Amino acid sequence: MRFIKTVAMVAGLAMASALAHAEPVTIKFSHVVAENTPKGQMALKFKELAEQRLPGKVVVEVFPNSQLFGDNKVLEAMLLGDVQIAAPSLSKFNKYTKQLQVFDLPFLFKDMEAVERFQQGPAGQELLNSMTGKGLLGLGYLHNGLKQLSATRELRSPKDADGLKFRIQSSDVLAAQFEALGAIPLKKPFSEVFLLLQTKAIDGQENTWSNIYSKKFFEVQEHITASNHGLIDYLVVTSNEFWSGLPDDMRTELDGAMKEAIAHGNKIAEEKAVNDRKRIADSGRSTILDLSDAERAQWVEAMKPVWDKFAGEIGQDLIDAAVASNN
Ligand code: LMR
Repeated sequence: MRFIKTVAMVAGLAMASALAHAEPVTIKFSHVVAENTPKGQMALKFKELAEQRLPGKVVVEVFPNSQLFGDNKVLEAMLLGDVQIAAPSLSKFNKYTKQLQVFDLPFLFKDMEAVERFQQGPAGQELLNSMTGKGLLGLGYLHNGLKQLSATRELRSPKDADGLKFRIQSSDVLAAQFEALGAIPLKKPFSEVFLLLQTKAIDGQENTWSNIYSKKFFEVQEHITASNHGLIDYLVVTSNEFWSGLPDDMRTELDGAMKEAIAHGNKIAEEKAVNDRKRIADSGRSTILDLSDAERAQWVEAMKPVWDKFAGEIGQDLIDAAVASNN
């Protein structure tokens, strides 16, 4: 008995001393966009706050521009423990859950306020846990904004997209959306888009004003249609194993820092949706087409049949909850 007590005491002392001299926890945060974007700024804010609040205990290393991993590899890397935080677009979780596909349904949200209501409501909050069975945990949502269509030719009506090749993110809903237009969707990593557009290997793409501006897509796409037909937002994600292995007080601090960083990123997203559009317009490199209500209705009519195709996988309840957030 005495022996066991002694062993326990020694082990306890060893652990206390290890913690006292513990190396800081290194958090690698990998993402694919530029630093002057909502996600780029959110990641830097998280680093600042986390290191300020947990001095000597945490080091956050941020890797922008797909420097460490592209979005197609980052989740595998996370499950292997090679990266601790990422914020892929909601369109890039197909392999892990079908439910997040709800965010890809075209013309689902009327504006970003509706998106926010859905994400913060019960259905959106439940989705943060939709991949825990696969080892991934959502820490929160971050906005980028509504998507616009760009191409080498003017896209005024859906038939203008017929036969064109569009780069898409790795989402089956987005593939179906372009197929509904008679276009050819190609799933390609974000890091390749500029070159594919520049070399005319593809004709068009869909993205937010912030991504079109910061990655210079507007310099190689003459036409942008302000379609607001879909969403690029992010799920800030970590692995269950990493997150649950943190000491409680550290996890609480990091969670608070992340919430503040997300709020900071969301403010930037709002600003960029307006100002990056303006910067593109001012550049004179692309023309921006605003659709009339009648023209927009044609795009809705062409794309919306996609909803029925995916309602089974996504769940009609979830789609209904998202639709209800428009009111
Ligand atoms: C894309 O691949 O177009 C976007 O998801 C990139 C991003 O992270 O905003």
